[in-house]
Amino acid sequence: MKKLMAFLLIAALTLSLVSCANSSKNTTAGNSNKATQSSDNTNGSAAKSNSSSGTSNSLEKIKKAGVIVMGTSADFPPYESHQLINGEDKIVGFDVDIAQAVADGLGVKLDIEDMKFDGLIAALQAGKIDMIVAGMTPTPERAKSVDFSDLYYIGKQVLVVKKDNNSIKTVDDLKGKKLDAQLGTTSEKAARSIKGVTVIPIDKVSTEIMEVKTGKVDGVVVEKTVAEAYLKENPDLKIVEIPEIKSEEGSAIAVRKGDKALLNEINKILKQLKDSGEYDKLIEKWFKQ
Ligand code: ARG
Repeated sequence: MKKLMAFLLIAALTLSLVSCANSSKNTTAGNSNKATQSSDNTNGSAAKSNSSSGTSNSLEKIKKAGVIVMGTSADFPPYESHQLINGEDKIVGFDVDIAQAVADGLGVKLDIEDMKFDGLIAALQAGKIDMIVAGMTPTPERAKSVDFSDLYYIGKQVLVVKKDNNSIKTVDDLKGKKLDAQLGTTSEKAARSIKGVTVIPIDKVSTEIMEVKTGKVDGVVVEKTVAEAYLKENPDLKIVEIPEIKSEEGSAIAVRKGDKALLNEINKILKQLKDSGEYDKLIEKWFKQ
């Protein structure tokens, strides 16, 4: 159902794009699995030279530099999280594969900058990164400062509590309770919309999960697929679906405002992913296990 919805949305949104695109250059993938990752911005990327003033030629700069820098908050499996692969700390996930497809489509290398979710838009505006790929929901508020691609996934919010907590079943049970939510996210907004709840904004979802485990808070508001990923490693936790916080929301890639050429390429690549069946495989790989 989720998959179908995501497909329908992408299909609908890309239709309009296709009708106005006059060239459909079919770039070939080149740099699979070549992502380099760092937690600070010390790489020689095009992003550094892209100030928020001169955004129209970001695409050109990225191609010249041979690298596109993705900003993310790698606390959000299966979208993005740190994993030890052959003893090396790597950021992997659905978003990383989507971003790699974008990099491949542009014929450049992918760099990943991990930061607090709340700092992503500022980092984009400051030219530290070229795009945000972080399961970010295109809200009207954010759309004032960045431009969003077509949606590439739809999720919904749930509550994560301790498995032995039987006192939280409905929204009324949340009165007087303490809930963590990631700072600056739609989860924080959803949590704040519940009356009588004390919301504690936290930088990283991994920290929130620790806090509910240790009993520092009663629960965490987070996207369902992300909750499910954390539950796999934390059998002492469970999901409670509270309709009042169950808002559905999509994920899209953000670029600097006015970065049209880059955005068009990204949307074209997203459409190609879908048309080739590659998108389907990525959904299977990250969301269906
Ligand atoms: N979809 C939500 C939002 O846009 C949460 C995204 C959080 N992403 C992350 N990588 N931690 O606000």
